[in-house]
Amino acid sequence: MNRSVTVTVNGARHQREVEPRLLLVHFLRDTLGLTGTHVGCDTSQCGACTVAVDGEIAKSCTMFAVQADGASVTTVEGLASDERLHPIQTGFWEEHGLQCGFCTPGMIMAVWGLLKANPNPDEGQIRAGLDGNICRCTGYEHIVNAVQHAARNHEAADYGVEGDTSAGVIREAEARGLESGEVAVRRAGAGER
Ligand code: FES
Ligand code: FES
Repeated sequence: MNRSVTVTVNGARHQREVEPRLLLVHFLRDTLGLTGTHVGCDTSQCGACTVAVDGEIAKSCTMFAVQADGASVTTVEGLASDERLHPIQTGFWEEHGLQCGFCTPGMIMAVWGLLKANPNPDEGQIRAGLDGNICRCTGYEHIVNAVQHAARNHEAADYGVEGDTSAGVIREAEARGLESGEVAVRRAGAGER
């Protein structure tokens, strides 16, 4: 029997009837058409399916869509706004952090989680933070450079999602005299970047 799920993805709310066995990654790709999130293994090995769920990084092949009911999901499609790339995307662009690009959406979302938790990681922390994401092409050197580029050019406000009360959003809220939820909703929805 299908179940109703309501998931906010990149600031847009979606309600669908889904089979309970449907994985979140297939919900994103096949039901919503957001094919930026990739499937490389389906067994929690490669990280190509990495997204943020309520501001926390998750491999979307390890979750059922029904487990995301009521959650706010950010995919790689949600990072850029208007004509502005997210600083992590700019880092990959400037430092040639990809070759075939298959791992890149998941890699970028994993970096999103890493830099949100640790805005200025050293090389060892970057490599450890990405050990759940496999790249078959680059040898990782340029990916590390891309993360360092992003770390030099980002700000806490680049990591807000609707419903998120993480440290970065709270810091921004305090700096601007706003409630953290207000900042997060603005960041997720209205393209204030
Ligand atoms: Fe999810 Fe590989 S597809 S970890
Ligand atoms: Fe090809 Fe990473 S760029 S798998």
